Amino acid sequence: MDREEQKRLAAVQAMRYVEEGGIVGVGTGSTVAYFIDELGKIADRIEAAVSSSERSSELLRARGIRVVDLNGAGTIPVYVDGADECDPHKRLIKGGGAALTREKIIAAASQKFVCMIDPAKRVDVLGKFPLPVEVIPMARSYVAREIVKRGGQPVWREGVVTDNGNVVLDVHGMRIVDPVATEREFNQIVGVVCVGLFAARPADVVLIGDQVMA
Ligand code: 5RP
Repeated sequence: MDREEQKRLAAVQAMRYVEEGGIVGVGTGSTVAYFIDELGKIADRIEAAVSSSERSSELLRARGIRVVDLNGAGTIPVYVDGADECDPHKRLIKGGGAALTREKIIAAASQKFVCMIDPAKRVDVLGKFPLPVEVIPMARSYVAREIVKRGGQPVWREGVVTDNGNVVLDVHGMRIVDPVATEREFNQIVGVVCVGLFAARPADVVLIGDQVMA
């Protein structure tokens, strides 16, 4: 089965966690696009969505789903998103689509975080996928130097500006054996807005194609 079909199957499965009549948290990416397709089929049975990116908001509205501000939504019952890597403890690298900050905010504000991946994204140790870090533009070079001191090789994702007006550094060469500690450490670098490690708040459920990860 190819990767796209695995992503689509995970999106179909994710629908089981959606509460009818409620607000759904929606991530960003190609896997999420399949999920939004599925969500569109029950657009009249959900109240609204909170969205992690302008891209997802457009897709949601195109399928007749109302997009509301997180500030007025309270605690979200379920947040559904993809990931770039997932370890056996459901800790993730995210941000390949540069939406990491809003994704992390909605994940934090949600009771349940359902993550959809294809099998190629399963790893024992996070870090083969370059770790995205969202940075305030004027701090880019400073943050890059600080990351080098910590053993990473940052590469500026040139031409990409996040929905928050910031830039992204992709950090290569990391073998992240303690993701919670690395997330904390990177968060403390002045100028970092968000690091794409979802370890302090990992996923609650990981769907791999049509399987649920134990
Ligand atoms: C966007 C993300 C995505 O969830 C991640 O990049 C996976 O994307 P895809 O489903 O296209 O493989 O974190 O910021």
